[in-house]
Amino acid sequence: MKVLLTGAAGQLGQALRTSVPSTINVIATSRNGGDGLEALDLADAAACQAVVAQHRPDWVLNAGAYTAVDKAESEPELAHAVNAGAPGAFARALADQGGRLLQISTDFVFNGSQGSPYRPNQERDPLGIYGASKAAGEEAIEAVFQGDPRALILRTSWVMGPVGKNFALTMLRLHRERDSLGVVADQVGCPSSTLNLARACWQSIQRGSQGTLPPVMHWCDSGAASWYDVSVAVGELGAELGLLDTPASVQPIQTSDYPTPAARPSYSLLDCNDTRKALELSGEHWRTALKTVLQSTAQASGSAS
Ligand SMILES: NC(=O)c1ccc[n+]([C@@H]2O[C@H](COP(=O)([O-])OP(=O)(O)OC[C@H]3O[C@@H](n4cnc5c(N)ncnc54)[C@H](OP(=O)(O)O)[C@@H]3O)[C@@H](O)[C@H]2O)c1
Repeated sequence: MKVLLTGAAGQLGQALRTSVPSTINVIATSRNGGDGLEALDLADAAACQAVVAQHRPDWVLNAGAYTAVDKAESEPELAHAVNAGAPGAFARALADQGGRLLQISTDFVFNGSQGSPYRPNQERDPLGIYGASKAAGEEAIEAVFQGDPRALILRTSWVMGPVGKNFALTMLRLHRERDSLGVVADQVGCPSSTLNLARACWQSIQRGSQGTLPPVMHWCDSGAASWYDVSVAVGELGAELGLLDTPASVQPIQTSDYPTPAARPSYSLLDCNDTRKALELSGEHWRTALKTVLQSTAQASGSAS
């Protein structure tokens, strides 16, 4: 089976490339190419259609995205081109030429105000440009495939892996650099390890090739946390794994104490129950998954205790 992967240089893309099932042949793309990756600019819809015509993949796994949530507020056209234009272009090309689509999406398509976990079929109501652009990407796919199970949308949240740019690695650095930190405690969601998320992606492709999966699915690790909780866990686990000497003292602060250009949902937990059943994958508690992520960081840097 041939899978065209976008965003292969991103944190999820890298986890996907190191966990490819033996039955799958991946054509990996990134914005600039190089390092065994083919160049593909997701802001160029014609290029997205052309790459499908050229390779005729069984699946496009669209893990690439404009992910700079705050910067998107000042670059709405680019965010929309990448996050809505590319999935729309892939959907049209695959519907015309045959092939399936797995689109990675986000908890930021919800406004976070309902105070209980979001189910996959709930209405989208994004707060900022990033969320709106990802929601528009979902809508573009649905407009083409109209519920046809050849297109799957897998929403995830708070993605953190051993490489790339993410909250866990930023916190690890800050625990090393500072004595105390203030971290937002009134936004609740759930971290998603790239290692577990990659497994869910490959399972979606394998199961989705054999039968019907729900067109919209949710995947994050199990449990719930605030950014404050995750920061405390990074400090404790980082010390336990020998990645830092003494964790910084972490103080809980309010969203209003840390203003950002983009508003974020205050409660964006994703209900993953139906997806776990459909994929026949169990969830791992976020703290256990975070420990594995940090352990992989330790192994990569050769500093594991
Ligand atoms: N990160 C999170 O917390 C989070 C939460 C929920 C959902 N998601 C979704 O999960 C998926 C994977 O995200 P991630 O965490 O792996 O993000 P990431 O590390 O930022 O990776 C995204 C990749 O997309 C690439 N990209 C951006 N613009 C591009 C363009 N015009 N052409 C080609 N490639 C482009 C980026 O390349 P450059 O490095 O060159 O920009 C980057 O390698 C995305 O769909 C994202 O929306 C992420």
